[in-house]
Amino acid sequence: STKIIIAIDGHSGCGKSTTARQVAVQLGYTYIDTGAMYRAVTLYFIQHKIDLASEKAVREALAKIHITFEGDPETGTIQTHLNGQNVEEEIRKLPVANAVPEVSAIPDVRKAMVGLQQKLGHNRGIVMDGRDIGTHVFPHAELKVFMTADSLVRAERRRIELQAKGEQVELAEIAQNLEKRDHLDTTRTESPLRKASDAQLLDTSHLSIAGQVEWVVQQAYLTI
Ligand code: C5P
Repeated sequence: STKIIIAIDGHSGCGKSTTARQVAVQLGYTYIDTGAMYRAVTLYFIQHKIDLASEKAVREALAKIHITFEGDPETGTIQTHLNGQNVEEEIRKLPVANAVPEVSAIPDVRKAMVGLQQKLGHNRGIVMDGRDIGTHVFPHAELKVFMTADSLVRAERRRIELQAKGEQVELAEIAQNLEKRDHLDTTRTESPLRKASDAQLLDTSHLSIAGQVEWVVQQAYLTI
C-alpha cells in the first residue's frame, strides 16, 4: 500500500506525542517528535548559555548540534539524543519546558529544524507531531489532524504523567506553563500554531488515549 505522511499538530499537553507514537506502531510507520527537537536545542542553549539575541551565537551553536533518535519499533518508544547523549529525561523537565517557546521562535532555529524534519520525512510512512507540521513542514501531508483539549484536563493529565516519574508539580504551575506556551506558540510571527484549513479537528477532552489512537488510525485508513 502507499505510505502517507500524517501531520499531527495542536496545543501543548493534548496527548499528541502519545497518540502519534501509537498510531505509528499500529501502521508500521516511523514516529517523529518535533517538539523533542526544539527541546534538545533549548537544552543545548541553556547548557552553553547561548545569547538568544545574538544571531551569530545562535548560528554557531546550531552548527554544533546533532539530534538523533534511538527507537524501539516494538513499543514505538523513542530516546532523544543530543550530540550522542541521551537527553530524553532532561528535555521533559520544567526548565526546558519554560524556555522552549522563546528558543523555538527564533527563525534560524526553525529553519534548521524544519530542514531536518523534511529530510526525516522524505521516505514517507511517518507520523510527525508538532505545531507547524500541517501548515509549514509538510503542507501537502495526506492526513492532517489538529488536536485540542480543555486546558485543565490537559494540566491534570500532565500532572499525573510527571507524578509517575516521581516529580510532584502543582496543577496550577502546570496549567500556567501550558497556557503560557499556547499563548506564545499561537502569537509568534514565525510559523505560529494554527489549524491548517484542511486539518481534521480532534478534541480529546473526553477521549482516552486508545480512543484518540483509534480515531486517527481510522482517518488514516480512509485516506490510504
Ligand atoms: O510538543 P512539545 O510540547 O514537546 O513542544 C515543545 C515546544 O516546542 C512547544 O511549546 C513549541 O514552542 C515548540 N515546538 C514548535 N514547533 C514544533 C514543535 C514544537 O515550535 N513543530
